[in-house]
Amino acid sequence: MVKNFNVMAALPHGLEEVGAIELKDLGVQLLKISRGRVFFKADLACFYRLHLQARLPFRFLREICQFPCNGKESLYHGIQNAFDWETWLDPSKSFRVDISGISSELTHTHFTALTVKNAVVDLQRSIWGKRSNISLSSPDFCLHLHLASENATLSLDSSSTSLHRRGYRPAMGIAPLKENIASGLIKISEWDVSLNLVDPLCGSGTFLLEAVSMAKGMAPGIARKFLFENWPDFDLHIWLEEIKNAKSLLKLNMKLPKIIGFEENIEISRNAKENILFAGLDKEIEIKVGHFREFKLPSEPGIIICNPPYGKRLGNENDLESLYKEFGTYLKTNASGWSLWMLNGNPKLSSFLGMKCSKRFPISNGGIDCRWMNYKIH
Ligand SMILES: C[S@@+](CC[C@H](N)C(=O)[O-])C[C@H]1O[C@@H](n2cnc3c(N)ncnc32)[C@H](O)[C@@H]1O
Repeated sequence: MVKNFNVMAALPHGLEEVGAIELKDLGVQLLKISRGRVFFKADLACFYRLHLQARLPFRFLREICQFPCNGKESLYHGIQNAFDWETWLDPSKSFRVDISGISSELTHTHFTALTVKNAVVDLQRSIWGKRSNISLSSPDFCLHLHLASENATLSLDSSSTSLHRRGYRPAMGIAPLKENIASGLIKISEWDVSLNLVDPLCGSGTFLLEAVSMAKGMAPGIARKFLFENWPDFDLHIWLEEIKNAKSLLKLNMKLPKIIGFEENIEISRNAKENILFAGLDKEIEIKVGHFREFKLPSEPGIIICNPPYGKRLGNENDLESLYKEFGTYLKTNASGWSLWMLNGNPKLSSFLGMKCSKRFPISNGGIDCRWMNYKIH
């Protein structure tokens, strides 16, 4: 029987608190929150539930052990003694080593990864006379080593690619938002599913897709393969039970308010429509093609949610001034009674809206320091 173990969830910086609430609601025992990371304890059922239902984490790392590590020798021996490799990693399984952090003598992550790999394959050769292959793109087993303050933490990564890739978005616009960030921002906005939701600069439709799939209880991990399915303590019975529970949360016939996106770029709007169709949400989400000024909002006020271009990755700052001015005028003319939530990475541009922000939350979006800003429109 597998008892509670230590896990770390990697989260977008700025979404740690809301991410911790999500994890707690799914049954974890919270331990600590730090920049981009939430530490907690979970049992197998809870661990599987998180993979099916949590929307905010990039990845989960299950801790195996910690050991003092001040250089190559202590790393090599620490890794060999760290773990019951004989049970967990036989040579038929491929693996990959990921590294984060440094110590005084281990400052090159590539060298550190090589040392970990050598320690594992040397041990495998001594036990079985053969070794695992290395696979960077689709390993059976993914080791993660974190170095900090002459201490090493060895963990198992439960997914070889980031969990923000839900798989419903084969077609991407320019500068699309990551699905987990969109989900976290919607959670902060406290969108009430009875309220109309409009993204007037919707790109590939990420906000709308995340909002609707969240409202309908669609578990983001339900169609995914996870690396824990290769772990020797994988419990198929508990996993199938958690899948059944996750499916029971689906509210397929839920009546939703109007969920609409505007997008002026024809090709990007096509991407949004393809993604929505792929996710099976084309009856719930409508995409209108054109400049936002061409469209009226639904008569019942609701929430406007968007990330307009802000010049760092998309658009020239000077051209964007007029976009923000026009957006501000559009909102003041058409959106009385609505609440606007806007992700912005350029405070100079947001000032061109000509509106007073009532709440703001710092969020890192792909390394850009952004603000998730709320405006009440009168
Ligand atoms: C940063 S992207 C939004 C990304 C989107 N959240 C996603 O995840 O794909 C901004 C989008 O606004 C669109 N856009 C720019 N000006 C617009 C306008 N006046 N009316 C409608 N869409 C516009 C751009 O074509 C671009 O797709």
